[in-house]
Amino acid sequence: MSDTQLIKDKIDIVDFIGEYVQLKPAGINHKGLCPFHNEKSPSFMASRERNSWHCFGCSKGGDIFTFVQEIEGMDFIEALKLLAGRAGVELSTKQSELESSEKNRLKDIMTDAARFYHNVLTKIDSAKSAREYLRQRGLLPATVETWQIGYIPDQWDLLTQYLLKKGFGIDDLVASGMTIKRERANAQSGKGFYDRFRGRIMFPIRDVHGNVVGFTGRVLVETEKSGGKYVNTPQTPLYDKSSVVFGLDKAKHEIRKKDVVVMVEGQMDVIGVWQSGMPNVVATSGTALTEQQVALLKRYAQNISIAFDADDAGYKAAKRGIDLARQAGVNVRIIRVPDGLDPDDFVKKDPEGWRGAVADAVDVMQWYVDRAFAGQDLKNPKHKQVIANELLPEIARIPFAVEKDHWLQAIAAKLGVDPGILRQDMPDVRESAETVQSRGQAPSSPPEEKKQKGGQRDTLEQHALSLLLTRGIVDGDAFLRLDPVFATSAYRPLYELLKKGYTEGNSIDIESIISQLSDSNLHQTLNSLLLKGDEVFSLIDNSVIILEFRQLAQQIVVGWKKEIRQQLQLEIAQAEQSGDDKKVAELLQQVSSL
Ligand code: UTP
Ligand code: MN
Repeated sequence: MSDTQLIKDKIDIVDFIGEYVQLKPAGINHKGLCPFHNEKSPSFMASRERNSWHCFGCSKGGDIFTFVQEIEGMDFIEALKLLAGRAGVELSTKQSELESSEKNRLKDIMTDAARFYHNVLTKIDSAKSAREYLRQRGLLPATVETWQIGYIPDQWDLLTQYLLKKGFGIDDLVASGMTIKRERANAQSGKGFYDRFRGRIMFPIRDVHGNVVGFTGRVLVETEKSGGKYVNTPQTPLYDKSSVVFGLDKAKHEIRKKDVVVMVEGQMDVIGVWQSGMPNVVATSGTALTEQQVALLKRYAQNISIAFDADDAGYKAAKRGIDLARQAGVNVRIIRVPDGLDPDDFVKKDPEGWRGAVADAVDVMQWYVDRAFAGQDLKNPKHKQVIANELLPEIARIPFAVEKDHWLQAIAAKLGVDPGILRQDMPDVRESAETVQSRGQAPSSPPEEKKQKGGQRDTLEQHALSLLLTRGIVDGDAFLRLDPVFATSAYRPLYELLKKGYTEGNSIDIESIISQLSDSNLHQTLNSLLLKGDEVFSLIDNSVIILEFRQLAQQIVVGWKKEIRQQLQLEIAQAEQSGDDKKVAELLQQVSSL
């Protein structure tokens, strides 16, 4: 038996996923809130019988290995190692094979680069000004050590040459984002490649497990040619700026203990606050908080306190992230920082002041209320309307009914109006919540697909297949009538395998279907179809199932014929325009034979 099968047999998938997601029995499967996107009603399913999981909201799904990869941000090899340890399975695959994947090579590059930069900073004479700069900014040597801060002088390709000599391949260096390839670069001679980071203080960016996945480099001496103040690693197989949270590897234990994340804006702020003895601090890397980051942080705490520039630009930049977090049910508080100070400056000048500001962070709703009422004249009805217009959308974003009502009443009392009036004016909550959610989702998510033409047929085909896969070929004639429809469907391979089983007189054998499917996307689809089938069709009577299937098949065929007819009409019109009478006659023949 293969290692992966052995592991799957030894670990109960429902128990395992249950450690990350609260699952409740639902029919023969288990259901819960999806950990991979924000939702309020559960569409995440795990199945013991099928050894699989699937979310009907974000369409992610797979087996226990893909679950670990997704939730821990690991690659397959890492997930395999983790689960093997957990199952007590000795891996038979050779270590060298395990280590050879691209992601592992990139990880080695990042680790070596961090070590190189750090050595340059701490040991090399010409890094003196960089050391002096960090000292001036108040960083202690132990802090520089712990965060493995480094430096790279302003030269063309120091790091690239160093890593090439260590035996890394130029293509991997480019893929890691550390090396930039010019247009006429020559991989054989190594000419035309240069370092992305030059003349910068280097901060390694680590994933939640502490692996270096990227860097941010702060310019040491600002000149006209030095580019942005900070330069970051671009998107790579290891580094995804919208899912990584800077500092989380060092902060996560304290975050869990305190049940609060302190969120600041920059790397220097994180390190400064950390050094002051407040380790539950993190930052995003030059972007607003994303849905993935909120989901990741929610695994550690229900509370996020955010410090950002009090000016309007700082607020605008943080607003979308705040909205996402609130809609995910996270309690957001605002840390008030004195005008013109970064947390880093603040904590250095006045450590006690900073601690007080964190302890006194205001609930974001209260903060909105204070802002909206400030400077308005409550005797002026127009001003009252302005306040209501500003606050109602924010109340609408609260996902909890009681809390929502609390704020409605509080504001009504302050404005001196009837709460019922405000309730009438409140924008539709769910709609705005979902627009925010769908914007954060992968472009291939099902809600988008449904809106496209042919989405209806797609849904019906999925329904029919889930029924067939979980209940068998309940009506052979109706099943075979679907043959021409599936000939042009994305699900054709699945249909063909079902047909093969049926015509050869075998019962449906999911394992054999899985083993014959070559496309991994279809594996995933099959998984979701099975779970859907379990949910929708498992408890229905046999006689009713037959009727249900005939009806489905009928609808599919009718829809398909309509589609074909429209297509033919289009072609006829084109043929008529080009005066091709023979073609027109041929097409008309096809229409009537439908
Ligand atoms: P700031 O411009 O506020 O920098 O950007 P900072 O953190 O105060 O840096 P110091 O104190 O001058 O060294 C905040 C964060 O936005 C990102 C960085 O992550 C930075 O820490 N940023 C900023 C970029 O990614 N690129 C830039 O050009 C500037
Ligand atoms: Mn700063």
